[in-house]
Amino acid sequence: MRAVGYSIETAIADIVDNSISAGATSVEISFSMDLETPYLSILDNGSGMSASTARNAMRLAGVGANSVRDDRDLGRFGLGLKTASLSQCRRLTVITKQSNQLTGLVWDLDHMIARDDWSLIVLDQAEMESIPNFTKLRSMASGTLVAWTELDRIHSQTKNVSAEFDQQMVHARDHLALIFHQFINGDHPYEKVEISINSMPLDGLDPFLTNAKGTQKSPVEKIVVEGIPIDVQAFTLPYLNKMSEKQRSLAQVPGQLRDSQGFYIYRSGRLVIWGTWFKLLHKSENGKLARVKVDIPNSLDHLWSLDIKKSTAIPPVEVRDRLKRFAQDLIAPSERTIIYRGRKEKADDDVVRLWDVIVDRDTYRYEINRDHPLLQVAQEGLGPRELRNLENALEMIELLFPAQDLVNRFSKDHVPAAESTDDLIRNQLLAMWESGQGNLGAPSEFIDLILHSEPWNAYKTNPEVLLNWIAESDNPGIEKTDV
Ligand SMILES: Nc1ncnc2c1ncn2[C@@H]1O[C@H](COP(=O)(O)OP(=O)(O)OP(=O)(O)O)[C@@H](O)[C@H]1O
Ligand SMILES: [Mg+2]
Repeated sequence: MRAVGYSIETAIADIVDNSISAGATSVEISFSMDLETPYLSILDNGSGMSASTARNAMRLAGVGANSVRDDRDLGRFGLGLKTASLSQCRRLTVITKQSNQLTGLVWDLDHMIARDDWSLIVLDQAEMESIPNFTKLRSMASGTLVAWTELDRIHSQTKNVSAEFDQQMVHARDHLALIFHQFINGDHPYEKVEISINSMPLDGLDPFLTNAKGTQKSPVEKIVVEGIPIDVQAFTLPYLNKMSEKQRSLAQVPGQLRDSQGFYIYRSGRLVIWGTWFKLLHKSENGKLARVKVDIPNSLDHLWSLDIKKSTAIPPVEVRDRLKRFAQDLIAPSERTIIYRGRKEKADDDVVRLWDVIVDRDTYRYEINRDHPLLQVAQEGLGPRELRNLENALEMIELLFPAQDLVNRFSKDHVPAAESTDDLIRNQLLAMWESGQGNLGAPSEFIDLILHSEPWNAYKTNPEVLLNWIAESDNPGIEKTDV
């Protein structure tokens, strides 16, 4: 039973499944490997269990695979609590509270071996009090505390237990943030569940960037099997350049972007398996932005060959063709997103322009070059919020570029005012020098960069003018040269 092959994150997820099934809105995971008795505990504020339900919960398949389950029950086999826990530890304690009654039960492998018997330990009040986080449970109206002690699995893996465990929990954090993201974010129709690890709440990791600008969504399609609808919806992530660093990290499920294309199979809201086309299609460079969300109700479990750890599921023949067609249709627009995103019109020199002309098949548009030194300086030191504001403003400026007005006036032989702009060019250069110092390189590198960038490239034949502007400024850092 211990060798089912749980990793620590799949084991914890199995316990969290139970908490969510019990209607919990808060799940607190705590651990410490540095105490005299190292432990990991999972405390929820769900319905809790009566004494007899708790006893039954400790039995293998006490609630079996053929039982009729509530549609929000994430359980299936009646095994998870025991198998997941005992895959990681030798002693599993469950304390639960319902209707003001506390029940504490323990499976201890060494006790069972000594007794040569399936002997369940029943805790008295004093024994319960020695379990980490028990006082929190006692103060709740109802809930369940699962504690793992004698964590022998980790000891068999490493000598530096504390550091290794921390590392594994960092990984577990990402895993839980992903597979429970619909609950963590309270996405309709799921009730919001706060999950924390050592008091740090998890942010849901939505692999579809559902709310990001630029994410393309298909309408939800229903595939009906045995009269029960399966919701299927396709997402094409925004083009990589259009994603912020934060978005990119959120969309980044473990592995490369290319590897994470494919179906994302949810069972009653919980992600079970992701990043696979189930051999219905090949993974391709062109499909790397395509992710298809498939939401299956637990009433179709018998078709999907779900494994005990709930980490794999194989689609039934009944839906395979439909899924394949769905995915094929999807890959086509995804290809377009990547290939026809537009090419930068080749400039005939190596000037860093402020405006790029982007040719997109038969159309063209103007984009502000985010790599222009002026914008690099402008982005320096900004937080995510300010960066987003700046990006919003730039996108709007691009969108509202008055091209039509320009054409009209031009055709009427209007000429733009030829004001002297020398002062502006000079002041902007000095402002950049002041705030960009150090970031844009040594003075000579800075000047070199500037001489290749609009509008200062006009001074290429006479760079000393620029150097002297700087040398005469309040914050020169370079010597004046004689022109
Ligand atoms: N945190 C909890 N709160 C309330 N009841 C719980 C909790 N954890 C377990 N139970 C009860 O114990 C039973 C057994 O849990 P267990 O995880 O072993 O099996 P399961 O959830 O029914 O199926 P699976 O093996 O698929 O997880 C559950 O069906 C539920 O009735
Ligand atoms: Mg379970």
